[in-house]
Amino acid sequence: MSALDTRTPLVEVIDLRKHFKLKGGAKLHAVDGINLRVYPKETVGVVGESGCGKSTLGRTIIRLIEPTSGKVLYNGNDILKLSGRKMRELRKELQIIFQDPYSSLDPRKSVLEVIAEYMFIHHLYRTRAETYNRAAKLMDLVGLARRYANAYPHELDGGRRQRVGIARALSLNPKFIICDEPVSALDVSIQAQILNLLMDLEEELGLTYLFITHDMSVVKHISTKIMVMYLGQCVEVATSDELFENPQHPYTKALLSAIPVPDLSTRDKEFVILRGEVSNPINVKPGCRFAKRCDYCTEACTKADPEPVEVSPGHVVSCILMKQQQN
Ligand SMILES: Nc1ncnc2c1ncn2[C@@H]1O[C@H](COP(=O)(O)OP(=O)(O)O)[C@@H](O)[C@H]1O
Ligand SMILES: [Mg+2]
Repeated sequence: MSALDTRTPLVEVIDLRKHFKLKGGAKLHAVDGINLRVYPKETVGVVGESGCGKSTLGRTIIRLIEPTSGKVLYNGNDILKLSGRKMRELRKELQIIFQDPYSSLDPRKSVLEVIAEYMFIHHLYRTRAETYNRAAKLMDLVGLARRYANAYPHELDGGRRQRVGIARALSLNPKFIICDEPVSALDVSIQAQILNLLMDLEEELGLTYLFITHDMSVVKHISTKIMVMYLGQCVEVATSDELFENPQHPYTKALLSAIPVPDLSTRDKEFVILRGEVSNPINVKPGCRFAKRCDYCTEACTKADPEPVEVSPGHVVSCILMKQQQN
């Protein structure tokens, strides 16, 4: 994670940008210069408020959306340069699990057919029987009773539907999975079951996750490393423990202080209130994106983008205050 880390990242994102062109010529900087390394068997959490670019980042990394610029290395190879055929081949290794399993599952297909879908597309097995056999085994793997094999997704509750989505994502033996708010649409009691399932699968199958969520308590539960995003940019990245114990960026501190604590008398930190709304990153000007909402904002913050500062090994913060503390 730090400069001393000699492992090869499974996925390395270099200065990745996705700017959407809007009507009238304006540009929306949904992802604006993200750098990130994801090592094998790591779970990297990506957190930030709705609209900060998490889903766009995830989709751009696996090329469901083409980026405006930047690089994505997978095992050291730039996947953005791959031809259509090579990309289709690689697609098996890169999967995504969506927030709302319902909208991503074909309502006319039964559970078994949905799980078998990608295996048919990629001709993974020679016969239909082999394919359905493997689909049934995937149901076992994700804890879905086989009696649901012929049910339709709309007949299942949210947790079971998400298990179908997970089984389908696992069907091509992926190595890297983007989980895009996989539990946000579920009841809290079911959230824990699905998170535990994802963690068990990670261990059992040696998976690597990029785990996207707006929920800080979920990300703490599951991540080894966390990246905090604000309006298309990374404001802070650190190991999960370090981020929760020693947050540095004013935005991270505000996000953390907003996590509900059951008994307020046990709360040892002050509330930091996030004022104002997240604006849209349209035709952005230089300067810290968080400046307008930041209690520590100075004139310098609005002049140029803050440079990332490594405050301790692997803990990187993009805030002018860090630079000042170092000098
Ligand atoms: N296809 C698109 N065209 C234009 N703007 C988009 C498109 N997709 C997303 N956006 C905008 O990009 C920003 C980031 O969106 P998104 O990645 O969905 O954020 P998040 O997942 O963090 O909620 C938002 O301002 C959103 O409105
Ligand atoms: Mg999203």
